[in-house]
Amino acid sequence: MMPKFETIKGVLFDLDGVITDTSVYHEQAWHELADQLQIDWQPAFAEQLKGVSREASLAVLLNATGHPNDYSAEQKAQFATEKNDRYLALLQQLSPAAIAPGMTAFLTALKAQNYRIGLASASKNAPFVLERLGLSDYFQARVDPATLRKGKPDPEIFSRCVALLGLQPAECLGIEDAQAGIQAINASGAVSVGIGAKDVLAAAQIRFETTAELTLANIRQQLK
Ligand code: BG6
Ligand code: MG
Repeated sequence: MMPKFETIKGVLFDLDGVITDTSVYHEQAWHELADQLQIDWQPAFAEQLKGVSREASLAVLLNATGHPNDYSAEQKAQFATEKNDRYLALLQQLSPAAIAPGMTAFLTALKAQNYRIGLASASKNAPFVLERLGLSDYFQARVDPATLRKGKPDPEIFSRCVALLGLQPAECLGIEDAQAGIQAINASGAVSVGIGAKDVLAAAQIRFETTAELTLANIRQQLK
């Protein structure tokens, strides 16, 4: 059962691939690391790694070698650092111009109508990215991913974000571009809003092809 539009009081945002298209930079940085480690890049990795923490993403790549236990904890930490250095280098040009279409208007409308706004990103770089986009001030609550016991698809990050906003799950929309993220929102009891293709985000309760369609009027239409 979907709640009525009037019930919604808060919106929980994923960052990468929703607020800005940094997911392509994450993918490029992982791809470069895979090449360096002579791991065959599989097209399926792109969706599998979305929403997934740095450590869990590395585990996906190393599992593809068939001998993930050959790597020491120190080597794994080194690989994760190398990936992050590549990612940060790709972020050098990040500016408000990289905000996803319609996103500033959507955040402004939410703020003007007193919706509570939270950030539920798995990225430890999220504060830096929001700062570079000039969007930090919109978010009343942010979950620190370093404090999570389990990452997406576990609902913990969304449950914590709902609690930080002082709301109930059914009073919140969660916005995600990743399969793991939609699964996490659904398990938290919030209403899942997918941004992206239907075949990828079939589990989303509401779906828009791009952020340009993400408006309160369009959401109201879906929650009648
Ligand atoms: C998520 C991205 O938002 O953050 C993933 O979708 C990424 O691709 C994860 O692995 C962790 O990000 P970071 O910046 O902490 O390595
Ligand atoms: Mg994402």
